[in-house]
Amino acid sequence: MIVESAPAKINLALHVRARRADGYHELETLFAFVTDGDTVTLAPGPLSLTITGPFGAGLSGEGDNLVLRAARAFAERFGTSVSGAFTLDKHLPVASGIGGGSADAAAALRALARANEVAVDDPRLFEIAAVLGSDVPACLLGRTALGSGRGEHLEPLDGPSGMPVLLVNPGVAVSTAAVFRGWDGIDRGPMPDGDVLSLARAGRNDLEAPARAVAPEIGSVLDSLNGGNHVLARMSGSGATCFALYATVADRAAAATAIMAAKPDWWCLETALA
Ligand code: C5P
Repeated sequence: MIVESAPAKINLALHVRARRADGYHELETLFAFVTDGDTVTLAPGPLSLTITGPFGAGLSGEGDNLVLRAARAFAERFGTSVSGAFTLDKHLPVASGIGGGSADAAAALRALARANEVAVDDPRLFEIAAVLGSDVPACLLGRTALGSGRGEHLEPLDGPSGMPVLLVNPGVAVSTAAVFRGWDGIDRGPMPDGDVLSLARAGRNDLEAPARAVAPEIGSVLDSLNGGNHVLARMSGSGATCFALYATVADRAAAATAIMAAKPDWWCLETALA
């Protein structure tokens, strides 16, 4: 049995530069990962998917889950190959801007690579990943990186590993396509130079305004995070999950306690940068 973690992704910054003729958008984004997320397990047997975990119910019976799409794409690309019975233990909220489905697909590709003795840095895996979704290559790489193009061109960076992070989601699923459609078409400029933290601080998330138009609760989440003693608070991806970075675990714990007391229905995860 092979166990692969599927950690949540956050976009420390996300600059939308242009709308492309193919319907996608040209991005510059600073990807980072946290130490918590979903888990994908692969056991011997015919291809199947069982979904468990606190956010599993929203996905059960979904024949088109990204894990199964990843497995089919892997089998097609590598020919006769070992597949198996997947279990997806779903701890990340669905459609929430932290790349849950993309992380699951990347974990499935890594599990299949291990089962078939394919190197996890095999370029063919990255080709499959880019077809599965814009964030899947970053999740396959699984480390802090600057992403460009749709997000598939990746330049690894050394990030502030271990830095305390709080993730907060107001329980509203947001369609990535709808948020991109709401972008106003104004290029607000490139990602600056510098180390990861100064880059993140100087950067923006250009999807925040269109995401707030779709899910106004995002404004309340950012207000709550901005009430704490944080280094940086921002929306991730196309929302609605927002994150804050903290200098200390005590600052993170104080923020989490205050938010959970005020908004018991919100999802909060106390974690750290990977
Ligand atoms: O690639 P993925 O399937 O994750 O993208 C979901 C949707 O988000 C796309 O259909 C597209 O509408 C939008 N998108 C975009 N530009 C990107 C990434 C995603 O317009 N770079």
